[in-house]
Amino acid sequence: MQGTVLVTGGAGFIGSHVCDRLLAEGRRVIAVDDLSTGRIANLAEARGYGPLFTFYNVDIRADALRTVVERHGPEIVVHLAAQAGVRPSVRDPQFDASVNVLGLLNVLEAAAVAGTRKVVFTTSGGTIYGEPRTLPVKERARHGSHPVSPYGITKKAAEDYLEFYREARGLDYTILALANVYGRRQDPHGEAGVVAIFSELMLAGRQPTINDDGNQTRDYVFVDDVVHAVALSADKGSGHLLNIGTGLETSVNRIFQLLAAVIGYRGEPRFTPGAGGELRRIALDCEAAGRILGWRPWTHLEDGLAETVAWMREQGVGAKAAGAR
Ligand SMILES: NC(=O)c1ccc[n+]([C@@H]2O[C@H](COP(=O)([O-])OP(=O)(O)OC[C@H]3O[C@@H](n4cnc5c(N)ncnc54)[C@H](O)[C@@H]3O)[C@@H](O)[C@H]2O)c1
Repeated sequence: MQGTVLVTGGAGFIGSHVCDRLLAEGRRVIAVDDLSTGRIANLAEARGYGPLFTFYNVDIRADALRTVVERHGPEIVVHLAAQAGVRPSVRDPQFDASVNVLGLLNVLEAAAVAGTRKVVFTTSGGTIYGEPRTLPVKERARHGSHPVSPYGITKKAAEDYLEFYREARGLDYTILALANVYGRRQDPHGEAGVVAIFSELMLAGRQPTINDDGNQTRDYVFVDDVVHAVALSADKGSGHLLNIGTGLETSVNRIFQLLAAVIGYRGEPRFTPGAGGELRRIALDCEAAGRILGWRPWTHLEDGLAETVAWMREQGVGAKAAGAR
């Protein structure tokens, strides 16, 4: 059997899908999460694997994290736990750094001591490059870039810490710079996921609000495609930072139109002035992930959105939101 994988942030949106995928591959999976934004309900499928799956409600900054890593001696750590929002990081940069820097160091130290072979880390392709000069942006554009939010700053700094642990302690890594991820289990109450937020409101017949003029663009990648990149990184991509997106720019207005068509929502959006710390345009060049991991995005935006909405309908998401009005 392949080695044990420890997934931090395992009860989160991306983390829970990663747990499901690794369990399906026959791995033993240990999930760690403090449930600050993650949900135990996201792990329903993983629990079905019985003794192959273990969950710990632990903060990655705590000493208890080291005990868990020591006990299970994972071959691989997929480190996803993070303060994962741009706006919260602007409001409280110290908290962001405590989770995204000190928490990261606690995880890396524990992994190095336990003899872990590799850490797979997710950084933010939407923030580490700052405002890119050319699109789609290539990985090398991060050198000398200036992230415009504390979240982007801590995510960018993580690469240097990972490189330090690789050099000094022999702990290998692959960093995946993710575009805007969307799909099943994304929290519609989070501040990052425009697809989940708009879908919930439209399903409830309520009017979504678009920050700014809605012509700002993002690169939207489906969660299953991201999970596939994480799985491939277990054995490939040593010492690399790789973009994981689609290379395509999609405006927020376009997302609104596509979701309105899938859901049958006939209203217009409301517009408000944009908040600080946000980019105008971004799309990620993913040629390197193709070459190094053998990874390509599979899911067309229209298909991914339709699947996300179908899942939300199954969960009764719109009905609940309408009731909470
Ligand atoms: N979703 C995206 O579009 C996107 C884009 C780029 C990068 N990322 C990165 O991917 C990772 C996963 O993001 P996600 O979208 O699944 O977000 P998420 O909020 O659903 O997942 C993060 C998980 O980490 C847990 N967590 C937070 N602080 C913790 C702590 N101190 N100790 C233990 N657990 C803690 C949360 O409870 C949550 O389950 C994050 O590192 C995020 O920065 C996400």
